[in-house]
Amino acid sequence: SVPIVRTVSELRKVVAGWRWDGAKVGVVPTMGALHRGHLSLVETALARSDRVIVTLFVNPKQFNSAADLAAYPRTENEDAAKLAPTGAHLLYVPDAEEIYPEGFATTVSVAGVSEGLCGAYRPGHFDGVATVVAKLFLQTGADVAFFGEKDFQQLHVVRRMAKDLDIPVEIVGCATVREADGLALSSRNTRLSAAERTIAPRLAAILFDAAGKLSAGGAARQVIEAAKAAIVEAGFHDVEYLELRGNDDLKPLERADKPARLLVAAWLGAVRLIDNVEVVSA
Ligand code: PAJ
Repeated sequence: SVPIVRTVSELRKVVAGWRWDGAKVGVVPTMGALHRGHLSLVETALARSDRVIVTLFVNPKQFNSAADLAAYPRTENEDAAKLAPTGAHLLYVPDAEEIYPEGFATTVSVAGVSEGLCGAYRPGHFDGVATVVAKLFLQTGADVAFFGEKDFQQLHVVRRMAKDLDIPVEIVGCATVREADGLALSSRNTRLSAAERTIAPRLAAILFDAAGKLSAGGAARQVIEAAKAAIVEAGFHDVEYLELRGNDDLKPLERADKPARLLVAAWLGAVRLIDNVEVVSA
């Protein structure tokens, strides 16, 4: 089984030993409820570093509502069992006081890439993410960190934050893992009803179809209007956003005249699903 540490001081002791041996240290930050998407990050981390720390912390500062935070699955034992066969070297499960001790007063806020998309609908979310990820980088002292493209805007926020704060960590983005029917894996998928679960994969299908049309030179405005209508037609209740953005800078695009990304957030019943796909430039 994977050794577990719960304090920064224990964590630092283990990492110091690894460094003494000249090991390259990788970290995979998570909020637990691990699925194959998380495990693929761990596999990539193991392939690209000598020692791998998986962190598990349900970060209250990145939740917009107390109800959503309370509903978030907490499955530490199952998570530890899923990690055991991967060969990950350490599981860091900080007590809340290790991350936000009494009197904690600092927020890391990344302008630009945090604005729009999810940032427009989840006020404070990316401040919470940037703050906790900065702390996890500094606590672990990792050389390289692995994040899923599933949360594409988050990946950009983390890259910007590490660069701006001169945190010496390389950020590696990892491809989204999907179910056979195309649905992107998410810990929120378990909240879908059976009927909703049959509708959910339509989101990815419509996204891939629209990405093809954009690659063929279609104007974003028209392609996006049609895709939004198709998402609602499929049974989603609300499309928060569906936007074409630059792959490397997340700036809005009117057509895919350079490497681009098509990003979506939509509600299916009480579940908010996000997804995004690459758009090869026309
Ligand atoms: P969490 O939602 O647990 O996700 C942890 C990591 O797994 C993130 O980098 C996320 O992008 C990645 N991931 C989730 N689903 C994926 C999928 N289907 N394919 C590939 N990667 C996937 O994201 C967070 O936690 C938090 O915001 C965190 C970064 C840990 C900060 O609290």
